[in-house]
Amino acid sequence: MSSSDTLTLTVDDDGVAQLTLNRPAALNALNTTMMTEFSAALRQVTDSGARVLVLTGAGRAFAAGADIAEMRDRTFGDMTDSNHLAAWEELADLRIPTIGAVNGFALGGGCEIAMMCDILIAGAGASFGQPEIGLGIIPGIGGTQRLTRLVGKAQAMDLILTGRRVDAAEALRIGLVSRVVPDDDVLEEALVVARQIAGFSGRAARAAKECVLRADQTTLSEGLLFERRWFHSLFAFDDQTEGMTAFLDKRPARFTDG
Ligand code: CAA
Repeated sequence: MSSSDTLTLTVDDDGVAQLTLNRPAALNALNTTMMTEFSAALRQVTDSGARVLVLTGAGRAFAAGADIAEMRDRTFGDMTDSNHLAAWEELADLRIPTIGAVNGFALGGGCEIAMMCDILIAGAGASFGQPEIGLGIIPGIGGTQRLTRLVGKAQAMDLILTGRRVDAAEALRIGLVSRVVPDDDVLEEALVVARQIAGFSGRAARAAKECVLRADQTTLSEGLLFERRWFHSLFAFDDQTEGMTAFLDKRPARFTDG
């Protein structure tokens, strides 16, 4: 377990890392300290050999967005010179699968970070939105791009231009989240899913993630070729033989990432 001013990180024996945004008094508003510590925590996750990351928030929010108090007096020069917010993108670059466990508010940058996760599990009382328009700005951690890819132009325009919030049920209906569970079960459900994925071949899980993400970035024919090449590549490793042999022997597979 390691803690910083704004985050808590644990990595368990199953290879599941749990990173908690931890500024509950400010609804986990994303400030510069948290961004710097987040970057360092992701390096720790990678160095630990963790196979899956669960990202969640302490208290009654996943995160209520970028820290407005910190940003109010910033100038264009401050923002552009520091390339403010760019470091959050490191979450999207993580090669292992990531699961967002969202309780309460996921607004603005909070919604944007949630959308970087590969699987999103929301509590029934969670709410999502991009309220930046009401602050005289627009989303800045990928909201205009990821939300549009996830839910399509009609829904993304509605949410980004009005700033309205959607509850978990609507988020599920429009394809913003993967599962909705009772609020009290969110973290446990995320950890169960994480342990399940951590029990599979890590190489297959990373390949699956890379291929699915490729779908957003390339043509269908290039994406299909990318997938087929990965599919072929997995036959170079013991986990493929083990997985198929275990199936035929009617026993659980013992993956070793070999
Ligand atoms: N930045 C800084 N502080 C925040 C914050 C934020 N984004 N969100 C909440 N807080 C603080 C509040 O100021 C308050 O602090 P104090 O107790 O010191 O007054 C504390 O968290 C609790 O918040 P509220 O009293 O407002 O709680 P509530 O239950 O009445 O309302 C809320 C909850 C609807 C989420 C409301 O806090 C809210 O609207 N927050 C701002 C949401 C927002 O606009 N997010 C977008 C930020 S910009 C952005 O994210 C840009 C980007 O793309 C990166």
